[in-house]
Amino acid sequence: MKKVVLAYSGGLDTSVAIRWLKERGYEVVAYMADVGQEKTTAAAIARAKKAGAAKVVVKDLKKRFVNEYLWPALKAGAVYEGRYTLATALSRPLIAAEQVAVAHAEKATAVAHGCTGKGNDQVRFEVTTQALDSSLEILAPVREWEFKSREEEILYARRHRIPIDVTKKSPFSIDKNIWGVSVEAGALEDPNVEPPEESFQWTRGAKDRNPKERVIEIRFEKGVPVGLEGGRPGPLKLIGRLNALGSEYGIGRMDMVENRLVGIKSRETYEAPAATILIQAHKDLESLVLDRELLHFKEGIAQKYAELVYYGLWFTPLRSALDRFVEATQEKVSGSVRVKLRKYSSQVVGRKSPHSLYKETLATYSAKDRFDQRLAKGFIDLWALPYKK
Ligand code: ARG
Repeated sequence: MKKVVLAYSGGLDTSVAIRWLKERGYEVVAYMADVGQEKTTAAAIARAKKAGAAKVVVKDLKKRFVNEYLWPALKAGAVYEGRYTLATALSRPLIAAEQVAVAHAEKATAVAHGCTGKGNDQVRFEVTTQALDSSLEILAPVREWEFKSREEEILYARRHRIPIDVTKKSPFSIDKNIWGVSVEAGALEDPNVEPPEESFQWTRGAKDRNPKERVIEIRFEKGVPVGLEGGRPGPLKLIGRLNALGSEYGIGRMDMVENRLVGIKSRETYEAPAATILIQAHKDLESLVLDRELLHFKEGIAQKYAELVYYGLWFTPLRSALDRFVEATQEKVSGSVRVKLRKYSSQVVGRKSPHSLYKETLATYSAKDRFDQRLAKGFIDLWALPYKK
């Protein structure tokens, strides 16, 4: 029998996909990647078995997610179309790469995912698989199967005694991991409708936000956040703590219409408190320690990097080359940033670094001034020379 490793989320689609693949002659290994979505529960594992999975494999990928994906993206300053901090997009190449590893370990000849044919995630999964092992067959049941609605899927699940939890189903499509939550569908499909409060998963609504301002200090070493409020919590705790703190203030909510790779515009809301605060703090520290030319050049790299991530092009020569460039820029990005948390937003209120390029004696308007203002005239005359009338 042919063996397939299915990226299994525990939800309706992938539960039904197990049975569907079985009916097409595959032995199914259900693979669950834990990137912090809190769904790799005993119930989900039992559901996979009931649906007909020969085996369930759970991989805790959280640490790798942070070290190999989130920190490089943070150092690069990657944000898609100015707002999306890429939680979903960054998780896909890791989940798919580990899926290939599971396929090898299980001696499977195929991999499958539960993405639809309209989104970016199918691209990210399949490009990764092809880049790592193009001999694997790729199956996308949701793109192919006969069910025209959720109701038909539910009927199919009932018929095959797949235990599903229909009562709790929210009208939204939600993807979650430690770097953020992505929410679409339901009422959000009208881009002119304000996101209903119940579409938000983490962050508090305006009425419940912490009214008391708070300043936190984040310490970076070579571009990586290592310290928070005087402690050294380790990457997962640090992100968890910032998500919790930021959520109290409603920080990191984004409501945007974005351009999908497949050409569709879609409306999505995001919540990414930790990502928002860290990207803001990191960028601020860079403004203190990087010279103007490097800083400006790097802004272009940030955009390119975000596109590569969004487009599913993680395992490509350009992304690894950019990582090496970015790494070289982070040598001096060490120091502390103080961020004020307040209702709706966070704000950097102070920064310091042993590598600071800020010179008070040059910037000051006080008696400490060491800048020879007379030199400015010659500089400006030469600067203007090509344009002189
Ligand atoms: N639009 C985002 C992306 O392509 C998130 C996709 C998943 N979103 C969801 N709500 N299931 O990266």
